[in-house]
Amino acid sequence: PASARPFVPDTTDLTQLAEAARGCQGCELFRDATQTVFGAGGAGARMMLIGEQPGDAEDRAGEPFIGPAGRLLDEVLTEAGIDRSTAYVTNAVKHFRWKSTDTGRRRIHQSPTRGQITACSPWLVAELAAVDPRVVVALGASAGKALFGASFTISAHRGSPLTWPPESGPFAADLAPRRALATIHPSAVLRARDAHEREAARDGLVADLRQAAGLME
Ligand code: URA
Ligand code: SF4
Repeated sequence: PASARPFVPDTTDLTQLAEAARGCQGCELFRDATQTVFGAGGAGARMMLIGEQPGDAEDRAGEPFIGPAGRLLDEVLTEAGIDRSTAYVTNAVKHFRWKSTDTGRRRIHQSPTRGQITACSPWLVAELAAVDPRVVVALGASAGKALFGASFTISAHRGSPLTWPPESGPFAADLAPRRALATIHPSAVLRARDAHEREAARDGLVADLRQAAGLME
């Protein structure tokens, strides 16, 4: 099966990991994307936030969460009292998956498949081992599945304190357990149908992030 594993060096040096990730061909997604978008932030970050995959803007810039979802993430982090510059921000999948519109002028985001999430997970585990954060935050279902397995859902687990790595499963059994929390993806706020729904989604996201900040103590 597709896997990043052969491309991941045996190191906890983030710079070396990021450098190696630039050449990853562990699944087919590298073909149609501009570049690998590795995580950003310091090795000493106490909180690690995990999204789904880079979007159009991130694919062009090579940085995670700098487009519309990233601007919203900046806002809700500030509201929750979290300084983004002290967090490590990354994605479950490191290449942009997209299809073109009928006219071919725009690139539309497509969620990664289960196989692509699994294929890319060795990078995520390497980042977790390198940063060794106290708290891990899954933003949305793809991150939740990358961390806790394919049956994980946000609806069942959002807002409840979790522990990563889970006791069972092929997830880095040699890493020490730490607190984790799952919440909605910032894009869910942007996709809300009306102002009322948007405000409710945003308030829920801020409340979850506040709770995650509380888990750092
Ligand atoms: N959505 C994500 O999940 N990650 C990004 O980096 C940007 C948008
Ligand atoms: Fe490698 Fe992940 Fe990119 Fe696939 S998405 S090529 S596994 S970095």
